[in-house]
Amino acid sequence: MNQNAVEYLCCPACKGELELKPEEREESIVVSGRLGCGKCDREYEIAYGLPNLVHPEPEKLPDIDRQFLDQYQRIAASYDRIIRLMMLAGALWEPRARRRDLVAPLELKPGDLVLEVGAGTGSSLPLIADRIGRAGKLFAMDLSPGMLAVAREKMARKGIPAEFGLGNAGYLPYRDGLFDAILHFGGINTFGEKERALAEIVRVARPGGKIVIGDEGLVPGKEKTRFGRWLLKQNTLYANKPPMDLLPDGITDVDLRWIWRGLFYVISFRKAETVEERHV
Ligand SMILES: C[S@@+](CC[C@H](N)C(=O)[O-])C[C@H]1O[C@@H](n2cnc3c(N)ncnc32)[C@H](O)[C@@H]1O
Repeated sequence: MNQNAVEYLCCPACKGELELKPEEREESIVVSGRLGCGKCDREYEIAYGLPNLVHPEPEKLPDIDRQFLDQYQRIAASYDRIIRLMMLAGALWEPRARRRDLVAPLELKPGDLVLEVGAGTGSSLPLIADRIGRAGKLFAMDLSPGMLAVAREKMARKGIPAEFGLGNAGYLPYRDGLFDAILHFGGINTFGEKERALAEIVRVARPGGKIVIGDEGLVPGKEKTRFGRWLLKQNTLYANKPPMDLLPDGITDVDLRWIWRGLFYVISFRKAETVEERHV
């Protein structure tokens, strides 16, 4: 991690300020060391340049988080190929579909500070980086070290800078009111603490910041079609409904739509301009 990234981070558990305790550096990059919370005394490890800010400890995560963490760890190396093929089966070219349906609604501009929650193998990251330019700053976090390792390698190969961190969406390790825009796509259906994660995403957005969230879920009526019934038998995640009832207070301009042949929902909204920060 870049040593300056600590200014954006906080303790995921108590939201206290973190102190950087580097052990090994390469110029401004901290390769190994610790981040210590000045408020609750918890310590988080930095190894191979990656801070591990997962809270609670993996063995204390809800069962569903642990189950999907195992699954993503197993499929990390083949994830991109699987998704690219699934998109092609629906006659969709993945980068174009992501740019149009996930990144464009973020309404990014050069210089923006952006976070992707559950960034996985980082397929949306270059598209975001393209919009915010070199003046922008990009943070990407995920629960799965395997998925994030693929993302880091891809971004390094493309020479695109981003700050990566391991974390849990329900306990984000970022300070209040920071980000101009936040994307989460593909994980919320299986988050162990969905409502908490949504509140956390809103907490770390700046007032007026744009938030885009999506996952599997059939457009109403599709479940009755032959294809819809077949799909639901293959993968029950498509039975999920957009979590509109879990959206926190303090948001405006809520929009719900379905994308990619009506198989995924996307909710976009803004954090209200005047809002009292809520620590969940
Ligand atoms: C289907 S993948 C989507 C990855 C990426 N957003 C994309 O668009 O390709 C879902 C990702 O969410 C991550 N994830 C699942 N539960 C999480 C949690 N509680 N906190 C953070 N990330 C989580 C998984 O590790 C996985 O990388």
